[in-house]
Amino acid sequence: MSDYRTVKHDVLVVGAGGAGLRASIEASSKGASVGLVCKSLLGKAHTVMAEGGMAASLANVDDRDNWKTHFADTMRGGQYVNNWRMAQLHAQEAPARVHELEAWGAVFDRTPDGRILQRNFGGHRYPRLAHVGDRTGLEMIRTLQDHGIHQGIDVHMECTVVRLLVDSGRVVGAFGYDRERGRFVVYQANAVILATGGIGRAFRITSNSWEYTGDGHALAYNAGADLIDMEYVQFHPTGMVWPSSVQGILVTEGVRGEGGVLRNSEGKRFMFDDIPDAYKNQTADNEEEGWRYTQGDKDARRPPELLTRDHVARCIMREVRAGRGSPHGGVFLDIAWIKERMKDGEEHIKRKLPSMYHQFKELAGIDITDEAMEVGPTTHYVMGGIRVEADTQMSTVPGLFAAGECAAGLHGANRLGGNSLSDLLVFGKRAGEHAAAFAQEHSHGTIDEAQVNAAAADTLAPFDNDGEVPYVVQDDLQDCMQERVGIVRSQAPLDEAIEKLGEFKKRVANVSVSGNREYNMGWHTALDLPNLLVVSEALTRAASLRTESRGAHFREDHPEKDPAQGEITFAVRKGEDGNMQIEPEPIRDIPDDLQQIIEENR
Ligand code: FUM
Repeated sequence: MSDYRTVKHDVLVVGAGGAGLRASIEASSKGASVGLVCKSLLGKAHTVMAEGGMAASLANVDDRDNWKTHFADTMRGGQYVNNWRMAQLHAQEAPARVHELEAWGAVFDRTPDGRILQRNFGGHRYPRLAHVGDRTGLEMIRTLQDHGIHQGIDVHMECTVVRLLVDSGRVVGAFGYDRERGRFVVYQANAVILATGGIGRAFRITSNSWEYTGDGHALAYNAGADLIDMEYVQFHPTGMVWPSSVQGILVTEGVRGEGGVLRNSEGKRFMFDDIPDAYKNQTADNEEEGWRYTQGDKDARRPPELLTRDHVARCIMREVRAGRGSPHGGVFLDIAWIKERMKDGEEHIKRKLPSMYHQFKELAGIDITDEAMEVGPTTHYVMGGIRVEADTQMSTVPGLFAAGECAAGLHGANRLGGNSLSDLLVFGKRAGEHAAAFAQEHSHGTIDEAQVNAAAADTLAPFDNDGEVPYVVQDDLQDCMQERVGIVRSQAPLDEAIEKLGEFKKRVANVSVSGNREYNMGWHTALDLPNLLVVSEALTRAASLRTESRGAHFREDHPEKDPAQGEITFAVRKGEDGNMQIEPEPIRDIPDDLQQIIEENR
């Protein structure tokens, strides 16, 4: 018999970023008792890395904007493999969610007449990002946290969930450990919502902090849920490249939204060299027009730096590979140049991008009002994740819901910047509402002692093993993924990665830790590794099967889109034998009325 304490809730929410907090607030407002589990401290979430804003067609800056244009932009950005129903709900409901956040106390930047200010971002036809300087995600977390805490939500901080507990095919709880003391806890719940965020720590260079090891993806997969779209990983074009200790830290797209331009070592704005057909009619072909757009000229077209992230990231890689990169292996991002055009340029930069100003000053000794930054792609976001039903956010396993980055569908093959924060609000709310309803309709299931004992034994196994230390294995895994499954992919490295992942399975199963259970970081890392392996294998296998280039998935050996592959998604699930299975499955056809909206907005 394992030693553990039991905590009971109607709804258990795993993950306390924007989606988890919004889901908790909603479930609680429907009368459910809610437990919110955070892997680290409340408020420390990747949500804060969505700095530049949240996309919603408020039409405050350009009155031509509406949900239909936002929907069409999201579908085009996702290369039409998005779950169209999610894209529709998201575009329709985002404005109300932003206003609600404002009513709960979020302090947005303002237009001169006092409405929420919106800025330009890649792939959005109109200025659409409601923002708070370059700290929008932080303001969102602060607001949700304040609001949620007054709703009576029970917060369980520094606790990691390692297994979902299942009764007759339905999820009825979770098993985890508290990080501080290493003691076990069983959460019994009528419904569980996963909101654990992404998988960035599977790669060497990432904007994600240590928590993002694909926990929700792996928990769902191991409980029998489907994952989809795992090959689509977003490499944000602009992360810091130097100093090496801070490599990968995000440099917000807001810099480009405020007029920042990308240049190579020859001083050339290389983004003008390659404008995709789908964006030709919206993209300026000269500097003057791009600047006029930045200044709010409604007849002008966007600067090419505001093309979609997948495209911008690849253009940067092209420059670096051609030997036209910056000294530390990136390119130059210059916002200082706007001082030539704006009287109060320096003040403008400091006011709109205060975090970037301090980040570069403190970490790289660079004053961005005077000098260009060095930037390069960084693993930022995974579009793939748990397959959910669009309206309810329930996964393919009854009682298990997912919202935010760990859920898939909305963003298709590539997410537009700013669509993540609105995603968290729209689908966090929906997940909370439907999980609360599920919890009302279903009683507590039975917790199977055998499942708990097996989870406890697996969790303690690293203390008895005699293999490598977990950090070495994690390091090697990150290198393997960065080198072979990164921004530019092709068959031979992908095959090599699949073979290596087979070896990693043996190494991970045998990692060994010493010491005791109190705040043992080595042990914690050992327990993250199996999750990293699940997501690494899923994305590598899916990337190897998708023999075309689409959105964030770029195959050097298949550089074009294949229309036939645009009609399928790869569903990843655990087979009866415990091995990973991947099946191509058709994507549902877009209904005529939505197709017409897409056509009208081409
Ligand atoms: O660049 C950024 O501020 C990130 C935003 C996002 O990922 O949505």
